[in-house]
Amino acid sequence: MNAGIIGIGRYLPEKILTNFDLELMVETSDEWIRTRTGIEERRIAADDVNTSDMAYGAAKKALENANVSPEDLDLILVATVTPDQPFPSVSCMLQEKLGALKSAAMDLSAACAGFMYGMVTAGQFIQNGTYKNILIVGVEKLSKITDWNDRNTAVLFGDGAGAVVMGPVSEGKGILSFELGADGSGGKHLYQKDQYLSMNGREVFKFAVRQMGESSLNVLEKAGLKKEDVDLLVPHQANIRIMEASRERLELPPEKMTKTVHKYGNTSAASIPIAIVEELEAGRIKDGDLLVMVGFGGGLTWGAIALRWGR
Ligand code: ACO
Repeated sequence: MNAGIIGIGRYLPEKILTNFDLELMVETSDEWIRTRTGIEERRIAADDVNTSDMAYGAAKKALENANVSPEDLDLILVATVTPDQPFPSVSCMLQEKLGALKSAAMDLSAACAGFMYGMVTAGQFIQNGTYKNILIVGVEKLSKITDWNDRNTAVLFGDGAGAVVMGPVSEGKGILSFELGADGSGGKHLYQKDQYLSMNGREVFKFAVRQMGESSLNVLEKAGLKKEDVDLLVPHQANIRIMEASRERLELPPEKMTKTVHKYGNTSAASIPIAIVEELEAGRIKDGDLLVMVGFGGGLTWGAIALRWGR
């Protein structure tokens, strides 16, 4: 049994925070942020919109898009490091909001690589025939763990949610290969202590550039494919310079890489599914296309998937 994406949706808060707004909050400039990160603006959730609310917005659209009703879900996986509260999990809150009465539910913590971990986990249940319909949501309300006085991190992140429904797909479609990895010794470079997120940007940058390229090449090799077979690279949207380094490693032209970082900043576990929705809406993904998705994050963690689009 092959496991693929059969529906997809996203939710983005309406409120936009621009680089110019940030200039009034910390000692920074639009020019610095744009040249170092590629970010121009990001979305910030309202105080009364929590992680589970954004997850619900994206999940509802993904289910509609897949034409799967909530009662037919077997499992809900939510990748997040910013849950509403330690427990119950966001996935259990989401199960209730959706009325997915027969579904098991659990959260998964792998920071920005969380969506890759979620899709691979879901893929195993589908491939071995245990489950049929699985909802995977990547969602973050990073604004609530951002220290708005710290210019090193305040300019980087945004809020949002992306969701996919995964299910059995035909031969040759869906997940062709994957790689997941972790290096706990790098945990000190990116973590949350007490209320706020803290980061050694330069160390994370070096790790990300190396790992994103390696993992992308590894999944291609595992699937018996070549760089030139790739139709679309969907890298985690953390920083345009990291993304460009991955694209150059795969020797792809600019139009074969997804870019939403300028509009939404780094939305962590949500960035890859949000980016795929935008590509679909722009008509840039068609049946049979080869996608390479690749993410990295706190942990340190990483994950990549080679996926043939279509049911
Ligand atoms: N505005 C102006 N100046 C700034 C800002 C800012 N917002 N932030 C930092 N600076 C200053 C620094 O203080 C430093 O000044 P100094 O030289 O006087 O000490 C100077 O700019 C240069 O800092 P660098 O760290 O060399 O800047 P760099 O080019 O490395 O860019 C950045 C910093 C953007 C953070 C980069 O390192 C990066 O993108 N790292 C990866 C971050 C990332 O992807 N995180 C993902 C997290 S994923 C997850 O799991 C949540």
